[in-house]
Amino acid sequence: MLGNSSFLFCISLGCLVFPVVISQIPLGSKLSVEENNYWLSSNGDFAIGFFSCSKQFSLGIRFNSNSILISKQTVFWVAGADLKVGNQSYFELTQNGNLVLFDSATGVISWTSETSNASVASTVLHNNGNLVLLNRNKDIVWQSFDTPSDTLLPGQNLSVHQILRPISRNSISSYYSLYMGGLGQLQLRWESSFTYWTAGNPSQSIVRAILSSDGTVQLLDHRSKSVWSVFGEDHNDSDVKFRFLRLDADGNLRLYSWVEATNTWRSVWQAFSNQCDVFATCGLHGICVFNASGSHVCRCPFTSTGESYSDCLVPYQQDCKSGSSMITYEHTSVYGIYPPNETMKHSNLLQCKSWCQDDPLCTAVTFTNDGTGQCLMMTTRYISGQSDSSLSAISFVKTCSDPIAALPIFPKSTASSTQVTSLKRSHRFCIRCLVGVATGTLVTFIFIQVGIGFCICRRRNHVRKKAALGYMGPDPKVFSVLSYAEINELTENFKHQIGPRMFKGMLPDNRPVAVKALNATVEERKFRSSVLKVGNICHKNLVKLEGYCSESGHRILVYEFAKNGSLEKCLEDLKVCKRLTWRKRMEICLSVARAISYLHTECREFMSHGKLKCQNVVLDDNLEAKVSEFGLEGVLGEATDGARAAERDVGDFGKMVIILLSGCQIADDVCELAYEKWLQGQVETIADKRIDGGVNLEELERALRIAFWCLQVDDRMRPSMGEVVKVLEGTLTVDPPPPPFACQWPPVEEEPAGSDPKP
Ligand SMILES: *[C@@H]1O[C@H](CO)[C@@H](O)[C@H](O)[C@H]1NC(C)=O
Ligand SMILES: *[C@@H]1O[C@H](CO)[C@@H](O)[C@H](O)[C@H]1NC(C)=O
Ligand SMILES: *[C@@H]1O[C@H](CO)[C@@H](O)[C@H](O)[C@H]1NC(C)=O
Ligand SMILES: *[C@@H]1O[C@H](CO)[C@@H](O)[C@H](O)[C@H]1NC(C)=O
Ligand SMILES: *[C@@H]1O[C@H](CO)[C@@H](O)[C@H](O)[C@H]1NC(C)=O
Ligand SMILES: *[C@@H]1O[C@H](CO)[C@@H](O)[C@H](O)[C@H]1NC(C)=O
Repeated sequence: MLGNSSFLFCISLGCLVFPVVISQIPLGSKLSVEENNYWLSSNGDFAIGFFSCSKQFSLGIRFNSNSILISKQTVFWVAGADLKVGNQSYFELTQNGNLVLFDSATGVISWTSETSNASVASTVLHNNGNLVLLNRNKDIVWQSFDTPSDTLLPGQNLSVHQILRPISRNSISSYYSLYMGGLGQLQLRWESSFTYWTAGNPSQSIVRAILSSDGTVQLLDHRSKSVWSVFGEDHNDSDVKFRFLRLDADGNLRLYSWVEATNTWRSVWQAFSNQCDVFATCGLHGICVFNASGSHVCRCPFTSTGESYSDCLVPYQQDCKSGSSMITYEHTSVYGIYPPNETMKHSNLLQCKSWCQDDPLCTAVTFTNDGTGQCLMMTTRYISGQSDSSLSAISFVKTCSDPIAALPIFPKSTASSTQVTSLKRSHRFCIRCLVGVATGTLVTFIFIQVGIGFCICRRRNHVRKKAALGYMGPDPKVFSVLSYAEINELTENFKHQIGPRMFKGMLPDNRPVAVKALNATVEERKFRSSVLKVGNICHKNLVKLEGYCSESGHRILVYEFAKNGSLEKCLEDLKVCKRLTWRKRMEICLSVARAISYLHTECREFMSHGKLKCQNVVLDDNLEAKVSEFGLEGVLGEATDGARAAERDVGDFGKMVIILLSGCQIADDVCELAYEKWLQGQVETIADKRIDGGVNLEELERALRIAFWCLQVDDRMRPSMGEVVKVLEGTLTVDPPPPPFACQWPPVEEEPAGSDPKP
């Protein structure tokens, strides 16, 4: 079907000679969703074709090298940035030399290369990932490198006025961009006006930025001389075959290298090592706290103002009648997001504080104690900022209620005001906020109004959940160590099995317990340390560990017993299921969310569940949910890093919600089916028909939305469990989710169109 014009030439490799075939794609060639076909570069490293996101499709170019795992074959260019088309769409190089993308959903051409008049003779996907249109003289008439999406490949220019933008348009990420400015500065921007990172210098007549194949990002002047550069930590390591520079959805610019040994794209350079320095990382969700291990969290230090949604607003309104006081936040700087009206003056600490106190419009001030004596005053309730023990800044935030004791965001014990390096940076950053925000637009305002609430947070760096904050609460009762003989006795020789490897037993004081026998090969030391960790946890929605047995050949856990057994069983048992009313089911979702959120963020040490599912949620006599079998990941030898583990729990929670609300646990694709129905507006058909007393459709919509957010394949898009709790409580609004499921390339078939026999 493709009349390939093939050239033969030779590469000599030692004494071997391989023929290499280069294919040009002639006029009239076509790719279509239905045929699943694609065009390859001659080295096979790159491919162009349709890929699917849920029920929609996009046309993109991706890595295709077989040294890269299929799931890591990242798409780096999408026709029309993030254009989605229907299931009968096609992409064609027309006879008059135009590339067109026909969208079957709307019946029109949704994107073209606009080259019908340019005497195009053929198209080629080059070995560097660049799709080019050539005329008869083999001159380049058009190339995909000139319309970048979110990524720059080695050899690709980012010329003046060109922009990289994160591909997911559905979240705040589209408000971030990388812009090659006319004055020769490479800038990271939030919205169109506010610059939070700059490279280069207007005096240097820079005309383009480029990523070179050795892993260097450079700004070049008109003579192609490098005037600014940064190096990835593996630059000029010739073992690295693939690299790219991408503006990620979290607003950070990163350089990635493919590491074959670990099968990962590793970030070898990033514009911000402290994610809190990325403007509006926490959006309206408070103050960003960074921790040297690379995570950050957003925390709202202000007391609740009783408002219906949980944006973190300054607890002071300009019409406040009851008088105001100032709350002190040490090692913290804040800046306004909306409205962008901040004033700066030089003063001392006390003057700075009273300047705000005396001005009825002032909502907050930040005094920077680095010798500059800068006092920054905000008149908006919409502020964000950051807190770090090394930050020599103090903020005062006005509150309308009665005086509240100072609430340091950062524990004082870790405070040290002698490290000023990171301070300097964030301080400079905040002056920029001042200038930049002052030019902010009405769009910001509209944006805030339409529920920034949820969308900011979801793209936060996924590692943040690692941070273990807060205190565990009262010391729980010590649990007991049992011998195997005792276990045998209390379970009557494991007589009553109530689940997989799970037995009912009775303690000497007549309290029933559930006894779980683990795989005996678990290493004793690991087992004990996990048990100690788990045994010290106390939360009303977590099953309590009553004791354990660790004798040779036996690893046994003794849990508090829940009368109604697992949620899975309850859903199957008609009698119990009848009692699972709508209200009850929502309560169960919330209880489980609270329990997992507690594990993730409120224990002394981060803990994940690892195997959250209906089987591991039990219901007591009042059908109150308790989560079981948590914290055993280390024991079962599946320990992953904290961030990954947290994201997995979030995903598992999403699935559990869908199963609980739909009552269906048989189909593997229960989530996909639910999403499809939701997309078609048939929300009520998703709910379990057996629910007595009907369903609250508004709550159902909310629960489904948050579940689909939890199920996002891109785990950076997933919310934290804390956010999930707020949505379920109804204190946080939730946007409609983007298609949650994998953007998948069609399954690779034997011999796709356009491919050529490889050497
Ligand atoms: C294509 O999409 C249409 C409408 O969106 C749908 O009715 C049809 O079933 C889909 N076809 C396939 C093969 O998925
Ligand atoms: C192509 O050429 C025709 C006639 O020469 C002209 O009217 C049209 O505007 C041109 N289109 C483009 C995209 O240049
Ligand atoms: C990048 O820009 C330089 C200078 O304008 C040019 O020579 C080169 O061909 C460009 N590279 C690509 C891939 O367009
Ligand atoms: C790395 O680059 C330097 C010049 O910057 C060069 O001298 C050196 O040979 C390079 N090393 C390798 C391993 O290519
Ligand atoms: C900005 O704030 C100052 C007080 O800090 C106030 O006098 C001024 O009117 C405000 N400007 C705007 C445009 O709101
Ligand atoms: C950062 O957080 C992690 C996990 O919460 C903790 O283990 C680590 O000690 C913290 N590091 C610092 C420097 O505070």
